[in-house]
Amino acid sequence: YSTVKKLFQSRHEKYVDRTNKVTVVGVGQVGMATIFALLTQNVSNNIVMVDTNEKKMKGEAMDLQHASSFLYNGNANIDFCTDYTKTKDSSVCVIAAGVRQEVGEDRLSLVERNVEELKGIVPKLVKHSPRTIIIIASNPVDVLTYVTWKLSGLQKNRVIGSGTNLDSGRFRYLLSRKLNIAPFSCHAYIIGEHGDSCVPVWSSVNIAGVRLQDVNKNIGKDGDDENWKETHTQVVQSAYTIIKLKGYTSWAIGLSISQIVKAVLTNSTRVHAVTTCVQGEHGVADEVFLSLPCVLGRSGVQDIIRQPLSHSERNLFHKSAAIMTDIQCRLQL
Ligand code: 2OP
Repeated sequence: YSTVKKLFQSRHEKYVDRTNKVTVVGVGQVGMATIFALLTQNVSNNIVMVDTNEKKMKGEAMDLQHASSFLYNGNANIDFCTDYTKTKDSSVCVIAAGVRQEVGEDRLSLVERNVEELKGIVPKLVKHSPRTIIIIASNPVDVLTYVTWKLSGLQKNRVIGSGTNLDSGRFRYLLSRKLNIAPFSCHAYIIGEHGDSCVPVWSSVNIAGVRLQDVNKNIGKDGDDENWKETHTQVVQSAYTIIKLKGYTSWAIGLSISQIVKAVLTNSTRVHAVTTCVQGEHGVADEVFLSLPCVLGRSGVQDIIRQPLSHSERNLFHKSAAIMTDIQCRLQL
């Protein structure tokens, strides 16, 4: 435009920042909640959406573009495509595509359908972004993290499942209500499967370094007359309850993924419970993927924290691992 030419004295070509480019595959409830969190929390202002439903995706993209002037950094690049070309050189790719649970259905029952879905997604992502970090949120997330790793050919540290970061958040929230302090100040982890066999690490739950187990030796156990164990039952029931009420879960998982993306993009070395290969940890022999507290940074999973577990926590973790081994053996990749 000549107006543009008259307005500016151009000094240099525009710099294109690709360091914070995030691709999100799947613009359903989880994908969109993730993108909304990424943009509004200032994690990235460079988003590419991918989905097979171009019409819906275009509508979502336009709706978000119109929010640009209300964002902190009002110059967001919000783009979309169905053929992955625009995903080129993404720093992080989030996979939130596939089917979700219906009322009463568990996460593991989705496995075959979502494995097929991943076969059409992962190779294309890696083709356009061979140095990317993939964060997978589709369920059953632990098995699908293994599948994504296999299909991608990426190093293990570069494939991360959203895992029990969400369960840990739910656990902290519920503890915070009982203790009447902020969730942020409840130091508590849930490890293992993001699903029915997830393991609350009661032995290390602490507030300002004070272990709740030192205050109540039966905390989280059957013999506890205050029934703190119920908190974990509620965590496990959370998704089932929300799905019954609103049909899907979205906000908490969206924010959880956004937090993981932020840890990676900013090389923060923050610790989050995410799905990674746990072979060799806590005596697990098989090449299975489950959540443990991990140090996240620009290389993905930088370290796994060697958390001391009680005898029963370790046994429960092994049960999660056995479930994964069983499913993985039956997969056709
Ligand atoms: C959740 O826990 C359904 O895995 C999803 O919210």
